[in-house]
Amino acid sequence: MDKLTIGQADDWHLHVRTGSILKMVIGHTAKQFGRAIIMPNLKPPVTTVEQALLYRQEILAALPQGSAFQPLMALYLTANTSVDEIKKVADAEHVHAFKLYPAGATTNSDAGVADIEAAYPLFAAMEKYRVPLLIHGEVTDAEHDIFDREKIFIDSKLSKLTQQFPALRIVVEHLTTQEAVQFVEAAGANVAATITPQHLLYNRNAILAGGIRPHYYCLPILKREHHRQTLLKAATSGNPKFFLGTDSAPHLTGMKENSCGCAGCYSAHAALELYAEAFEQAGALDKLEGFASFYGADFYGLPRNSASVTLEKQPWTVPEAYVGDDIAITPLRAGEELRWRLLAA
Ligand code: NCD
Ligand code: ZN
Repeated sequence: MDKLTIGQADDWHLHVRTGSILKMVIGHTAKQFGRAIIMPNLKPPVTTVEQALLYRQEILAALPQGSAFQPLMALYLTANTSVDEIKKVADAEHVHAFKLYPAGATTNSDAGVADIEAAYPLFAAMEKYRVPLLIHGEVTDAEHDIFDREKIFIDSKLSKLTQQFPALRIVVEHLTTQEAVQFVEAAGANVAATITPQHLLYNRNAILAGGIRPHYYCLPILKREHHRQTLLKAATSGNPKFFLGTDSAPHLTGMKENSCGCAGCYSAHAALELYAEAFEQAGALDKLEGFASFYGADFYGLPRNSASVTLEKQPWTVPEAYVGDDIAITPLRAGEELRWRLLAA
């Protein structure tokens, strides 16, 4: 197959930041996707509907002229989140979910929830008002090995949470392990998951073998090959619980190529191309449309996009960096060739 036309896709997990980074990255996402769930881990985090609506305005103002891209906002859950704010989200047209970061799990997560059980009254309200809870599923205690943190989170926190709140709508974000795939498969239809392009295409060798490559470092960290295989199988299975969420997370090149480099891969420049490569590798290009364009919208209770997009087998080389006024961002696959190209709409 040399050409693939699918319904316009959405990105159900995206970081765009603010200011000059936002201005640099938003055009990439607006070309690739109709909508995206915008992560709230700014400094300070986006914790109220009011702040989210201001942030949404900033994103809309940064879009290329004529773009119909729609940012779908999410709030950052903290120990101070009120039931009232949850009710507000349930009624808000442009805010769609809460994001739970265990405190200290990842970039800008200091304000996250330290004691998940203390937040149970909030989960009860989300369950009642049908507000989705998006979860960064990793424990953060220093004694746990970084490669085990997702599995331990599932065993020690997530299973309890889903038992306690059986109707709570949950998206387990950026799955990285076989155990996480099995957990989501076994859970009710109210529990779904996103999968990133890097976790479908790479295992941990990409970061560590033959030299240390910081642009492949993200959280949750890439795992062993058998986990990648399981993720690829889940994404290409046609099971509507698994859908697209890039977790594209721009950091300045200097913050990644650093003795203490930031976590996050920038993939918005070529998101669909990267997914197409992974699906082609699994011999399952026919399953890309459901994963990229249908199941996420269905889960969030939003209409599927009416437009369509076309990918063509037309190799192109990813730039070494995207450069703005005084910033540079190194994208995933910088300087390398991609097999697929998304055509302009
Ligand atoms: C994300 C970021 O940079 O904001 N980083 C990452 O490695 N994925 C945060 C996150 O989603 O964990
Ligand atoms: Zn993220």
